[in-house]
Amino acid sequence: TDRYAVFGNPIAHSKSPQIHARFAHQTAQDLSYSAERINEDAFEAAVEDFLQGNGKGLNITVPFKERAWALAQWRSERAELAGAVNTLYRLEDGRLAGDNTDGVGLVRDLADNNEVDLEGARVLILGAGGAVRGVLQPLLAAGARSILIANRTSARAETLAQLFDSAAGVMGCGFDAIPATAFDLIINGTSASLQGELPPVPEATVSAHTACYDMMYGAESTPFCRWAQAQGAGRVMDGLGMLVEQAAEAFLIWRGVRPDTAPVIQALRESLT
Ligand code: ATR
Repeated sequence: TDRYAVFGNPIAHSKSPQIHARFAHQTAQDLSYSAERINEDAFEAAVEDFLQGNGKGLNITVPFKERAWALAQWRSERAELAGAVNTLYRLEDGRLAGDNTDGVGLVRDLADNNEVDLEGARVLILGAGGAVRGVLQPLLAAGARSILIANRTSARAETLAQLFDSAAGVMGCGFDAIPATAFDLIINGTSASLQGELPPVPEATVSAHTACYDMMYGAESTPFCRWAQAQGAGRVMDGLGMLVEQAAEAFLIWRGVRPDTAPVIQALRESLT
């Protein structure tokens, strides 16, 4: 049996084993997938150990994505721009390959599962951490016309924007400099929900045509989703679909077959409540 795992710390609440077990069952693939809590000082050695023998691929989560990026001997373009790796596997020549499927996971959930039109979209992204960095290039590649990154610490947003060519339409600012005009898409990539908080965003950024997406999710609607709903946003979504889609993209890389995500998203949604 080919073995797969997700490495992180903490890892107890990871839904990845459940998601990949469903993918494997659905596509009749013989594999196992476990969640492993890795000590901070043992990450690199643990990757090497795992990928000997039957270990075919790894997902990497907090706090190891940047270290996985550094460890990879080959990286996809999207991983290069993300500065972080969430999927590891071996190339045929034995080199360790690193990819990042988070951004494409978000784009698929928006465009395929929720019919959000990204072509020409004016996008506002809240937050400027690793989660946001990973989705910028995939959003541009999917046709976004402009991306304004707004962050509590404005310098971090400006630094992220500078990773892109000035013609790409990516700008950074503080929350206080967000213009009071409606955007096509607003994505919350801050971890403010974890503290039950809401980034201070002008209400005028939301119209009946605005799609609002929280990269976080939970059994109950997140503070950002509730706020977006109250502003009358055209669509309001949380990050559960992104989680399943990034997993499906990793499964495709490893197994060469794309699972059907819709029933898995639905099953996970039901298991949250
Ligand atoms: P991740 O890798 O998950 O993106 P991170 O790099 O720690 O984690 O980034 C967390 C993001 O959430 C940052 O943009 C952070 O803002 P700062 O850069 O100003 O710290 C944002 N954030 C966290 N708590 C927040 C809160 N209560 N209100 C607004 N933004 C918050």
